[in-house]
Order: sequence, then structure tokens, then C-alpha cells
Amino acid sequence: MEKLSDKLPELLIDWYRNGHRDLPWRRDRKPYHVWLSEIMLQQTRVEAVKSYYERFLRELPTVESLADCDPDRLAKLWEGLGYYSRMRNLQKAAKKIMQEHGGTFPSAFDEIRALPGIGDYTAGAIGSICFEMPTPAVDGNVLRVISRVMEDAEPVTKQTVRKEYTDRLAEVYPEGSCGDFTQALMELGATVCVPNGAPMCEMCPLQALCGAAKSGTQLQYPVKEEKKPRRKEEKTVFFLRAETLCAVKKRPEKGLLAGLWELPNVEGTLEAQQALERVEQWGIEPAELLKTAEKTHIFTHVEWKMQCYYVNCKAPAGDFAWVDQARFEQDIALPTAFRMFWEELK
Ligand code: ADE
Ligand code: SF4
Repeated sequence: MEKLSDKLPELLIDWYRNGHRDLPWRRDRKPYHVWLSEIMLQQTRVEAVKSYYERFLRELPTVESLADCDPDRLAKLWEGLGYYSRMRNLQKAAKKIMQEHGGTFPSAFDEIRALPGIGDYTAGAIGSICFEMPTPAVDGNVLRVISRVMEDAEPVTKQTVRKEYTDRLAEVYPEGSCGDFTQALMELGATVCVPNGAPMCEMCPLQALCGAAKSGTQLQYPVKEEKKPRRKEEKTVFFLRAETLCAVKKRPEKGLLAGLWELPNVEGTLEAQQALERVEQWGIEPAELLKTAEKTHIFTHVEWKMQCYYVNCKAPAGDFAWVDQARFEQDIALPTAFRMFWEELK
């Protein structure tokens, strides 16, 4: 790919400084705040992140409080955001900052990059936004903008393309405005050079130097390689109630949704009769089958098709934790795949 135009930073920064979204994580440039927001934003939409971000910082206002937080409490603060390894790495990194950096967020790029859960993108964002270093942060937004501006047909799904864009951008990073340049690129991708449909080129500060806008080929970029289809799994889920209590179980410490809670469940789709027999095999006496519900939940590499049976039981029993509604709502981190069956009941 050719070099980027050296006019790009100035055009983007002027546009950004003229007005942009007022987001909670843009109110200051504290590394802890920028770090947390970038981790939350990696797989989750801005609108969904806002309230999680503010609640998280209210409860864990410092790196130290994050390092010391009880893991179950942390899981509850993250509940519903998904990609829970982000949360575990966040705490690992907080502990490392306490132990190896005296509680101060490191300012050297290599030290930032070496923290658990921090890859090139997040390290670039923190480096530029918090420390004014010329370290690009190339996310999906930036890949889209640059591939359009350069009419670059290389698939952006390739790591080599990410590296190439990072290098090309680093060459033009504007001294003294590195943070704003990073944010401006993301802002343009999120609000003007949008995915899924036509970008708003007539409002774009880069229109004059954009290859795709000139050729009318915006929708051909970015090029993506085909993804592997997700593995599909069928599950039977049990919403077991005994008076005011509900059965839950802690998931294993390894694998998908590690260490979070789940509703009782088994592989495969059982018929109602088989489902009630399974409840009996757990040593629980079913009283009444209340209702059923079917839902699908999509993870990165797998898709669960779930059949749920709501069963009133005679008494709490079996190898489960039986919790009341208050605990269920306040303490138990139940991932969305299971929580939606609870929402269904409300
Ligand atoms: N997406 C990823 N990082 C972002 C940020 N800092 N502001 C807005 N959207 C983002
Ligand atoms: Fe994207 Fe259009 Fe701007 Fe080019 S001119 S960067 S395609 S919004």
C-alpha cells in the first residue's frame, strides 16, 4: 500500500475538535479509565457500554480496588457484557500494575503491551490517548476508513493488513495531537464512514482525498475473508423452582463462560417427559411443568439452541445451589445465555 496523505491527520483532527460525541470515557485521559473503556468497547456497542462503564467505576474507582475485588463481585459487574475473559484479564493486569509498577499505570509502550488482555489495539489507544505517543490503535473502524480511503482490496481480516495500516498510520501521527487523532479515526468510522450501508461521504472531512469516494466504490471496502461457520450445539436448560428458590450451579473454572453461574442444563434436546425424568435423576422431585421456552444464543465460535423447561419442584435438592430472588439478582453472575430464561418469566 502507498503512504497515507500527510493531510489526513489535520483534516480529521479539525473535524473532531469541531464536535464529537460526549462519551463518559472522554471526560479525562486517565489510563485506568481509557483502558477500561477500550476493553469494554472491544466487543460491545457504545450505547451498551455507557452504563456498565459508569457503574464499574463507581464501584471500583481505582486500579487498586480492581486488583482487590472479589472475583464473584467482578463477574456480577460484568454480567451481560459477554467475553468474560476480558474481565479476568483486567483483574490480572490490575494485580500486575500493583505488584510490578507500584500501583501506577506504566507509560512505556512495551510495558503497557505486556499487561494481560492488552493487545496492539488497546496498547495503541492507551499510548496515544493517555501518553501522547504516536501509537496507532487499529480497530474495525480504522480498518474500514483506511481501506476505503486507500481503495485497498487486501482482506482486512489478515493480521498483515492490520500491521501495514499500523505502520502507515504511525508515519503520519501528529505530534502533540496523538490522542485526538486516535479518537478522530474511531469517531469517523463510528459516525460517518459507517459499516452496514452507505457511508456519509458528503459530511466527511476526508472526501477530497478518499479513493473509494472518488470511484464510488465505498461499499466494496473493506474486503473480508469468509469466516468459518459457527459450530451448533443443542441444549436442554432447566429453570427449577422450589417455593422462592431457584437452582443454579457454578461453571467449571476453564472453558466457555468459565467460573460464571449457569442454570442446570444437559447436552441435546430432551422431550418434556425425558426432561422430567432427568430432574428425578438429579434427586429432585418435580411437582409441575409450568412452561417451556426456546432460545438461541450466539457466541464467537459456537451457537447454542436451547430448550428450557420451567419446573416447580417439591423441595430444593440435588447438587445445586438454591438461591432466593435477591441473591439471584444481586450476587449471581448469570451470563445472558441463561439469564434470558429468567427475563422470560418476568
Ligand atoms: N470504540 C472503540 N474505542 C472507542 C472510543 N474510545 N470511543 C468511541 N468508540 C470507540
Ligand atoms: Fe468513508 Fe466516504 Fe469519508 Fe471515504 S469519503 S472515508 S468512504 S465516509
